[in-house]
Amino acid sequence: MTSAPDPPPPPPLLRLDDPALDLPTALDTLPEEHFQRGLIPVELEQGVPAWLMITLDCLQRVLKDEQRYARDPRAWHDLWNGTIPATSPLQALYPPRRNALSVDGAEHTRLREAVTGALEDVALSRVPHQVSETADLIVDGFCTRGEADVVSEYASVLPLLVLCRLFGMDQSAGLRVGMAMQRLWDGQADAGHAHHQLQDLLIGHAAHRRAHPGRDITTGMITRGLDDEEIRDQLALIMAAAHDPIAHTVTNTLADLLQTSRLHMVGSTWLISETLNHGIWHHPPLETLVGRFPTVDGLELGGYRLRRGDCLVMGFGAAQRHQLRTTPPGPSNRAYPVFGMGPHGCPRLGRDIALSTAQTGVERLQQRLPDLRLSQEPAQRRASTVIAGRRALPVTFTPARPLTAPAATHQENPWNPSPAPRRASASNSTTPPPTRSVFAKLARWLRSS
Ligand code: HEM
Repeated sequence: MTSAPDPPPPPPLLRLDDPALDLPTALDTLPEEHFQRGLIPVELEQGVPAWLMITLDCLQRVLKDEQRYARDPRAWHDLWNGTIPATSPLQALYPPRRNALSVDGAEHTRLREAVTGALEDVALSRVPHQVSETADLIVDGFCTRGEADVVSEYASVLPLLVLCRLFGMDQSAGLRVGMAMQRLWDGQADAGHAHHQLQDLLIGHAAHRRAHPGRDITTGMITRGLDDEEIRDQLALIMAAAHDPIAHTVTNTLADLLQTSRLHMVGSTWLISETLNHGIWHHPPLETLVGRFPTVDGLELGGYRLRRGDCLVMGFGAAQRHQLRTTPPGPSNRAYPVFGMGPHGCPRLGRDIALSTAQTGVERLQQRLPDLRLSQEPAQRRASTVIAGRRALPVTFTPARPLTAPAATHQENPWNPSPAPRRASASNSTTPPPTRSVFAKLARWLRSS
């Protein structure tokens, strides 16, 4: 008599909040049978179970089926039944929100149509020019120094200011938003105050645009019938969804180019685009993202039986690297799973704006500081559960002259650079003493004369 084959051994129970966990390595070395199933049980924090989806096939099955898998965190049982304590960071991360990504059904359709319609109003062809101008503004804040940290002084500043500009904010409003965001990220004692300030800035901007419409994302949402609070919530969603991934895409692309000393090669537009493409496939800027929640009991997925209200986590990093190992995409394939799929997938224009910002951001830095070089070997990518990026990327370069004049001198077109002040040099007052906040530093530089 032959006996049935042994079931595969269970995977090690990974705890996604473990700071010592190198999640990409742990996942890429899982036995193949777990990839055949498509998902593994994990813990988000001690005692909080979840399922991590680790293949494209599994992601597609779940993300494209909104009837059986909700996006709205109110469907997540453990968030409400006491399993996740009130003091857990998860409670702070997933409160009920009224943005397109956090609701389902007719409400989602209404908000998504307003957001995607508003994105269509942005002239994509103008984005590279706007990114270049914004990049110039930021580079001017450090270019006389001859050294900088690409992450904190450039890559983490650029996407936020570009988004604020696409929202229709002027330079000073963009910097105020940046400063509030910085205080939030720093997680200081006044984070609660910073959050309220950010909310006030966004709703104030919506009201301002209602009185003074333009051609921007905010005005686009107004014309599609959203009220000011709804606009505030969609703008906050876009910042939260887009900022970090774009920042890490810029940093990863620059690090890859500088490490191989290829940034200075002729025809670098093509080279930058290919490096960016390779980087997003191999090191997607989002490693994981919560989540989807079964709406019925007993769904079968990969041989596991799910309960209603379980939490499914999108394992974009594992899924993309698995795809590279099994069915590598062609060289021009830009259908990155990391932008999601199905009804809540990143809008096509969100994706295009992100890629255009990252590409132009790298190109413009190279044009402004052509002999950019690493001042030390870049640190490893963060082996974080959420982000596949770097904390710092110190570079040196020949000090260069700023291109932009202080904002006060050209208020009418406040994001535009004007010709460089003639006497600018490495020792003039345009480089203020370093402060903790890059945005504050930038604002001070712009106010200086
Ligand atoms: C590298 C940059 C970006 C990445 C990796 C990214 C990724 C994603 C992913 C994975 C989702 C779906 C999440 C889910 O299904 O639960 C999403 C949704 C979304 N993204 Fe992006 N995104 C990026 C940039 C942007 C930009 C620049 C915008 C807008 C200007 C944007 C706007 C949105 C919106 C509005 C949604 C919600 C869509 C809905 O729920 O219907 N994203 N994004």
